Amino acid sequence: MKKLVASGVAVVVEQGAGEGSFASDDQYREAGATIADADAALGADIVVKVAKPTLEEIAKLPPGAMLITTLQPLTNHDLVRALAERKATSLSMDAIPRVTRAQPMDSLSSQSNIAGYKAVLNAAAALPKFFPMLTTAAGTVTPARVFVIGAGVAGLQAIATARRLGAVVEAFDTRPVVKEQVQSLGAKFIEIELGQSGEGSGGYARELTPEEQQKQRELMAERVAAADVVITTALVPGRRAPVLITADAVRSMRPGSVVIDLAAEMGGNCELTKPGEVNVVNGVRIDGTLNLASSVAAHASQLYSRNVSALLGLVLKDGNIDLDMNDEITKGTVITHDGDVVHAPTTSAMGGPKA
Ligand code: NAI
Repeated sequence: MKKLVASGVAVVVEQGAGEGSFASDDQYREAGATIADADAALGADIVVKVAKPTLEEIAKLPPGAMLITTLQPLTNHDLVRALAERKATSLSMDAIPRVTRAQPMDSLSSQSNIAGYKAVLNAAAALPKFFPMLTTAAGTVTPARVFVIGAGVAGLQAIATARRLGAVVEAFDTRPVVKEQVQSLGAKFIEIELGQSGEGSGGYARELTPEEQQKQRELMAERVAAADVVITTALVPGRRAPVLITADAVRSMRPGSVVIDLAAEMGGNCELTKPGEVNVVNGVRIDGTLNLASSVAAHASQLYSRNVSALLGLVLKDGNIDLDMNDEITKGTVITHDGDVVHAPTTSAMGGPKA
């Protein structure tokens, strides 16, 4: 806020917008913003939102306005069409190419990092066991066994956090390139031979064939059964999350064990996940809580605001909108412009090369 105001931009904040992250309207006023109701805030030249807009909100944008939010354009075609019809220039935070120069803008990373951390804390709180090994006068306690499936940003943070709490950690990812990263965090990389690499375009995973998925489920079942905690983070851009833990696999786990499914928003990696709910089956707790980042709201908000400021730095020049559609980051991030959908909803358009 302070940076924007200093650069000559007039900032309107929706009343109460910061309450959930403990930023008061008064603090925004002190930083130089005007407080207004939601409708007035939607009337700005550039509207910045956290979550995707509703169709009603899109209808309230001034024609030609810029909207910056997480649109998930690959799965929200109705919103993308409505934004094009509104002649809005929409930029989607989740479409920012994962290139080195865009790292300060990368909200997928900043929020996944938080989710990975909080997933482990929630698992530790729910598990009827210690995480660390303890040698006490009353006997020795063996460390908890944590299995992390998917070692992208969230998975790697989950591994690091579980290790810090003293658990024994195993992990698997279909992209072989993460093996060293997993090992450098002190976890064991589980070798599962699927034939072909799971690497897709833009550094993301590709969708496995049904046969490969079946093979993965079978080969992982033993590791799932041995785990006290399973944290799943496996995602493929624009697709339903792959089902990697079947109901049978859950039944093979010890009662009291915990599954935290960070892929719940995309349908879940566990067959028994109920997105937004905790489902207990045979004493195994399958936690499909959505948007874990919001439970670490102060830092989630701080990091998201830095991501957005960095993106605004790219599209504003001397306080005015100045879009360079030849810029690799701008080109990848703009979804609709001038009445057209300019972002081809393909997997490759989500990524671009990764560092
Ligand atoms: P994501 O959220 O799309 O997926 C999470 C993880 O699930 C990925 O590692 C993926 O390979 C894995 N996965 C997919 N299907 C699976 C399956 N069947 N079984 C097991 N695992 C499966 O990915 P995320 O976290 O967004 O990161 C992807 C990559 O991008 C990472 O390597 C990360 O380090 C890299 N990255 C690069 C950046 C840069 O260079 N600027 C910035 C941020 C991330």
